[in-house]
Order: sequence, then structure tokens, then C-alpha cells
Amino acid sequence: MINPPNRYLVTSALPYANGPLHIGHLAGAYLPADAFVRFLRLSGKDVAYIGGSDEHGAAIKIKALKEGTTPQKIVDKYHSLIKETFKEIGISFDIYHRTTEPIHHETSQDFFLTLYKNGAFTELESEQYYDEDAGQFLADRFIVGTCPRCNHPEAYGDQCENCGSTLSPTELIDPKSTISGSTPVLRKTKHWYLPLEQHESWLRTYITEGKLDGKEHHYPEEWKKHVVGQCKSWLDAGLQPRSITRDLDWGVDVPQEIEGSKGKKLYVWMDAPIGYVSATKEWAKQHNKDWELYWKDEESALIHFIGKDNIVFHCLIFPVILKSYGGFNLPVNVPANQFVNLEGQKVSTSKGWAVWIHEYLKDFPSKKDELRYYGFKIMPELKDSDFTWKGFQEAVNNELVNNLGNFIHRVLVLTNKYYNGVVPVFDESISINAPQESGLPTWHDSELLDLFDRLHEFRSHIKAFDFRSALKIVMEISTAGNQLLQYNEPWKQEKTDPDLVKVVMNLGLQYVTALSVAIRPFMPFTSDRLRDLLALPPVQEKGEFVDLMDALSEGKHLISGGHKIKKAQHLFTKVSDEEIQQQIDKLMQSSPEPEEVKEKAPVKEAASFDDFSKLDLRTGTITAAEKVEKADKLLKLTVDLGFEQRTVVSGIAGSFDPKSIIGQNIVLVANLQPRKIRGILSQGMILMAENKEGKLGFVGAPEGWTKGDIVR
Ligand code: 2FM
Ligand code: ZN
Repeated sequence: MINPPNRYLVTSALPYANGPLHIGHLAGAYLPADAFVRFLRLSGKDVAYIGGSDEHGAAIKIKALKEGTTPQKIVDKYHSLIKETFKEIGISFDIYHRTTEPIHHETSQDFFLTLYKNGAFTELESEQYYDEDAGQFLADRFIVGTCPRCNHPEAYGDQCENCGSTLSPTELIDPKSTISGSTPVLRKTKHWYLPLEQHESWLRTYITEGKLDGKEHHYPEEWKKHVVGQCKSWLDAGLQPRSITRDLDWGVDVPQEIEGSKGKKLYVWMDAPIGYVSATKEWAKQHNKDWELYWKDEESALIHFIGKDNIVFHCLIFPVILKSYGGFNLPVNVPANQFVNLEGQKVSTSKGWAVWIHEYLKDFPSKKDELRYYGFKIMPELKDSDFTWKGFQEAVNNELVNNLGNFIHRVLVLTNKYYNGVVPVFDESISINAPQESGLPTWHDSELLDLFDRLHEFRSHIKAFDFRSALKIVMEISTAGNQLLQYNEPWKQEKTDPDLVKVVMNLGLQYVTALSVAIRPFMPFTSDRLRDLLALPPVQEKGEFVDLMDALSEGKHLISGGHKIKKAQHLFTKVSDEEIQQQIDKLMQSSPEPEEVKEKAPVKEAASFDDFSKLDLRTGTITAAEKVEKADKLLKLTVDLGFEQRTVVSGIAGSFDPKSIIGQNIVLVANLQPRKIRGILSQGMILMAENKEGKLGFVGAPEGWTKGDIVR
């Protein structure tokens, strides 16, 4: 790969086609990618921006079972909705494909067979849970149980969404089939595995040093710290073989050439990233391009935009797949984002605690860029962020209406008023009052050089995937424009010093023209409207940013004297208190916690008295508490039972500050089989009560009871 690359293959995570898009998706993996590719196109680069729906996997099958329909019907419905939503909100994919297309099945099978032939897999027979009522094996989301790490009662077979741990189904406590609700039994089955542990050494060099085959590889050099950090913790924990097939009836078939393939499908995380390749093939076919150039040429850079829950798949597993196939480029960057919360709570699709983009578009049909703007403003680039409806209103009203919209409107109105819409020709030697704080006079040409510097910085931020900072620069340019008007007061000076006003208004128009290009990655709809008001051709994203920078560096103007613009119109309008209240009311009708689960969790199936009396519950006191390193949710506690001290690892760090719980009376399940959690032997479990807001409280013995008393 050459630095900087000339050709880019950019992908955004393929969303599961089992639900609509929400603000977390948008700000996580789509807005940043869209801004990036639009900027690349503005910079004259050759880009293929690939998207599509992820239409396989257990989540889709489960949704179909729940709704009493077929997986195909589910994916058809949501693929159309998602595709349309992306189009409406201006995500500029070159193709939006789907993993149920034949070309994807063929491509995935080719990958599988090639890896198989290259000896890249191991085959293992293991015992897996089987639902005898439903007659099928239970992988991933087909099985739920209590998380062994944090005791969350609804952990899936592959992951606990409460504490983020990756799990295997046999680790779950009290596992249940999500299909029939019955307790599964263990049965032998054979699967193919990707022996990740064999790739540990080059993966470590690739991730932590940015080197591949002895050459510098990352672009830009520094990856986001949280991305490298997450990969490192996987590598440090020791990579494990990862099974890449499933006993399922929905998905890509394991190629029939392979013995034992009958009834086996590819694991969804095996086929989904290959979806980027198959979509590129389809795009190339439709546009008479060479897909291999984008994936294999050394001048092409592969970049994946994703959310943090997808890091391991894109930084470790997919690179292993690509390298084992041979000839493919590996990602030069994976600028993953963290999560967006909503009004202080985790977004939850099942609970309706979300801002659904298709609903937003219905409620605010003329405010597409306003949502995009706010999405960039709160983009969780380095840490989780929070969407609030009040924050949205303030951003639109104070920043878009009062700053950017106001500046542009004043320039357009005054140009029409004083010059009948014609960009004034002016005298370069006349100095104007400076927009900068210095207050010293300045000149038209030096202000244009200043604009060049700002846009140079803007470009550096985008290259570094720092979209929030880039957007700030856009707003600073607008602020400087407003100050230009404020300091020179054309509305007063027009009568006394019309020559000065000509310089000011011409400069204002140069700023506005620069903004019509610079806002493009963030607010493409507004860019189109502004170009129309300026009577300039729309920005086609064909190198216009390069042209603009060239012009500024050569002292050329961006909009010429004598050019006639159109009548002014407002680009943005305010969001009213009522509109915001309606959205808040709508949100409050859904609960951030699942009513069916949290409010009235169904009583579990009967336990015999013997079952119960097997438990030894004891009163105790917490005497020490500390955070477990690199585990956000876990606390290491010392519990005094009076007759002995116990170490307990508990998933309550999100709810309690360690210092605040020392001295807390608790009840401990004292004879729970000890288990190692993050290398610490946990000797028991503390009973907690959870209310419908998900708040945890300790269950304790009444005042006066001593440590070690029996609870029954
Ligand atoms: O997490 C998800 O929503 C997955 N459907 C993302 C897949 S990304 C890719 F690999 F296709
Ligand atoms: Zn958990």
C-alpha cells in the first residue's frame, strides 16, 4: 500500500435485517463513514463505499419464530425499510446489497472451500446443547441463561449484553432454549473451527505495531486507542479456536464438496464480513469496474466503520479469514465508535428505547441534515455519548439557526439588497475590521489565507476520523463570518463607506461558498440548497475540495465578482418546545427496561424443596471492595461470614462505588461451586434485588443478626 492511498474500499457494518435503524446505528457506523467517503470524493480519490443488510444468523430466525413468519419475510421487510432509510438520510453507499443474494452465497462458499483446502480450519467434535422439543441444536441466541460473570438472567449463548462478556453456551447457568423454553440436553456434533491461536503472533504485530509482513501497514498510523486496547485484551487473554459453522436451517450452506456438510451452515460472523466482498463484486458488475483492484491492489486501502461490539470480528477474525484466503488487503484502519445512549439510558431496540430514524424522518421531514449534524456533534468517537432531545433542540436552534443559518442568510440578503444579487467587485487595498479577536485591521486576501489554514486543519481532522473536530471548524468559519459582519456593520456603513462594504460582502460570499463545500460531508442536503441559492452547480463530490484549496492557496476567489446569486432563503428553522415535548412523550411511553421481563419476570419453572435446600445462604458483611482490572462491571469483594472470609467477584461495579459498600450487610449463596472469573476464584454469589428500572439493591438480614446466620 502506498501512503496516502489513492483508492479506498470503505465499508459500514452490515446491519441485521431484523429491525429498523436507530440513532445508535447512524452515529456509530454510518454517518462517520458517509462523511469520510464524501470527503474522499471531494478530494478526488477513487472510492467504493459498500453497505448491505446482514440477513443470516440466529437473531433473524428468532425474530421470525416470534412473529410466526419466515426468516425470508423478515429480511425482505427490514432490508427494504433500512435501505430506504439510509437513502432518505443521505448515506451515500455505492451499493446497498444483501447477504441472501446468490452472489453472496457463492462468494462465501468459495471462501469456505478455499480456506478448507488451504488447511485453515480444524474440525472438532464437541457436546452442544440440543432442544429435544424443537429437534435442533441451540447455538448463540437460541439459548439463554444466567451469565456466569455478572449473574444477568438473560445472557445469550454467545454473549452477555449486560456485562459484554463473550460466552459459550455451556458456561450459562440454568440454560433454556429460546425456541421451546425447555432445558436443553448435551449432544455430540461436529464443527469447523478457525484456529485463531495459530495467528496470534502476526495479529499482535499487525494490531499493536501496525506492521504486516514486515512493512508499515496502518493508515493513518495511529489507530483509536480503544480499538487497539480491545484487541490487545483478546490477544493477552490468549486466542481460542472459534467455531465458524452451525447446525441451523437458515444461512449459507457449508459447501457440499466437504464431507459432513449436510445440515451445516456458516456461522453468521463467517459470512457477514464476506458480504463486503460479494457486494463489491455486484457493484463492480453493475458499473463495469474491477472489484479485485479495490480489494487486492497495493494502492487500495480497506477501512471498516463499525461499532465497538464488532471490533474483534473486524480486527482479528476477518483479517485471519482474508489472510488465510490469500491475496486480499487487510484493513488499514478500523475506526470503531463507542455507543450512543439515549437520555442517559442504553439504547434498547427490543424495549423501544430508541430514536428510530424512519420515524424521525416522518416527524421532521425537512430536518434531515439537522439530525445528521447532531449525530456528528455527539459522535461517540472515543467514549459513549448521550443523545437528548433537548440537546438536539439546542444544537439546531443555537448552532444551525443562530450561527450558520444566520450568517449565510445575512450575506445572501444583503447581497440582494445592495447589489441586486450580484457579487460585488471591490478594491483589494481597502482594509476591513478583523473578525479575529486582535481587533487589528485586515485585508480580503489575508482573510482568504486564514480560511485556507482553517480548512487545512479541517482536512487533518477528517483524515484522523475526528469528525467532531472537523465539524467544529466549519462552525468556527461561520462564527468568523458572523463576526466579520458584526465588526464592519454593512447595514450602517453602506451609507457612509460603500467601498468598505463591498470588500466585506465579497469576503462574506467567499466564506459562504467555501462552506457550501465544507459542509458537504456532514450536511449534503443543505450543501445542495446552498449551492442553488448561490446559483452555483451542485457539489458533485468530484474533487471540489482540492479545487477549493488550490484556489485559496493561489489567492483566487471561490465565487467571482459579477456572478449573480438567487434570492435569500432560510436554510434552517428552529425546533419548537412542543416538537421536543412530543418526542419526549413518545419516548416515555416506551420503557427503557423491557416491561415483559423487568416489570413482571415470569416465575421460573418449579424447583423442588430439595433443590432449594441444596442452597446454603448465609448472612455476611462486605469488608473490602475493589474494581477488577480491565472489567468495567466487576468488583472483587471480601465477604466476612463470621466463621470465614470469602472472595467474591460480582458484576455490580456499574451500580456501586466500591468504597460505598464496605460494611454492607448481604446474603451470600455460600455453597455455589467456586469459579474463576478474570483469574480470580469467586467463592459464592451475593443476592441482589433488581427493580424495574434495573437498579440493584442488596438483600440483607435484619438489624441484630450476626454474620454467618443461615437464611432459609
Ligand atoms: O452487529 C451487527 O449488527 C452485525 N450485523 C454487523 C455485521 S458487520 C459485517 F461484518 F457484516
Ligand atoms: Zn454478564
